[in-house]
Amino acid sequence: MTTNEPARLNHKYGIRDQLVFSEGPGGLIIAEIKNPHGEATVALHGGHILAFRPRDHAPVLWLSSKSQFKTGKAIRGGIPVCWPWFANHPTDTDKPAHGFVRTAVWSVSESEKLADGSSYLKLSISDSEETLKLWPHRFRLEINITVSDVLSVKLVTTNTDNEPFICGGALHSYFNISSIENIMNKCLEGCTYIDKFYKGRRKKQAGSVTIRRETDRIYLDTKADCIIEDNGLQRRIGISKNGSRTTVVWNPWIDKSAKMKDFGDGEYKRMVCVETTNADTDVISLAPGHTHTLESHVRVEPLTGNNE
Ligand code: BG6
Repeated sequence: MTTNEPARLNHKYGIRDQLVFSEGPGGLIIAEIKNPHGEATVALHGGHILAFRPRDHAPVLWLSSKSQFKTGKAIRGGIPVCWPWFANHPTDTDKPAHGFVRTAVWSVSESEKLADGSSYLKLSISDSEETLKLWPHRFRLEINITVSDVLSVKLVTTNTDNEPFICGGALHSYFNISSIENIMNKCLEGCTYIDKFYKGRRKKQAGSVTIRRETDRIYLDTKADCIIEDNGLQRRIGISKNGSRTTVVWNPWIDKSAKMKDFGDGEYKRMVCVETTNADTDVISLAPGHTHTLESHVRVEPLTGNNE
């Protein structure tokens, strides 16, 4: 029996009436979490959160109907963990985009039913022969996931090497929305961003972010929490963050999503990525023995008449 065999995982980490491991799509091992406050699904492949919803709410995360669920392939949707670099490797574009941990299998380290009935799951991954070929540093990376009516995700990087290293990364969150025309993302007003769609030009955000075409923007030097207002689903998704100075907003729109095999027809309308990131000039330098935590907390509240 391998370490990630569901029977073994259930014996060691399963929580009665709350957390069960099984074979999910494509045979990947998943943890299904359900408690009085909410539910979530997490794949050990990539330490990837596939789904989350607070009780009595529509799904908060978007997952493509055409996603691949295969060893070595990235999952399209949910919350991919991009690490130790965001997007292309800074000097070698032959290396995998968004780093290598989103396509690697993580291990389960801990699980717990918390006093208020929430569920906690910790997964981890460390350097190996393969990772050292792609990135010559020893590390430990943990993802701490708490499922309640709020989804809390903490990505903890530890430098277990003898030299400092530089790393970036993202909780590349895909949110489920009623329709791209119906949403606006508040809180980035005045921020400088790199507009990847317009050849990397630097611009300043004026007003709220609304999306009417392909959008790929890296907002720099911002610690601001974000709010996605969705008039169709009559809700706000609040994304608060810590340990992150970059926010990425992405929607591939019609042409780009049509070229991506793992996007269903027209599905670009039902998603927006608001990514808790450290990229470009906001990457982290970590001394030996030190840790850095990138965290994101996702909550949902109804849109009511007295909201601005
Ligand atoms: C976003 C990037 O974070 O991820 C985009 O800003 C990129 O440039 C997108 O296209 C998706 O990346 P991938 O590697 O999952 O197709």
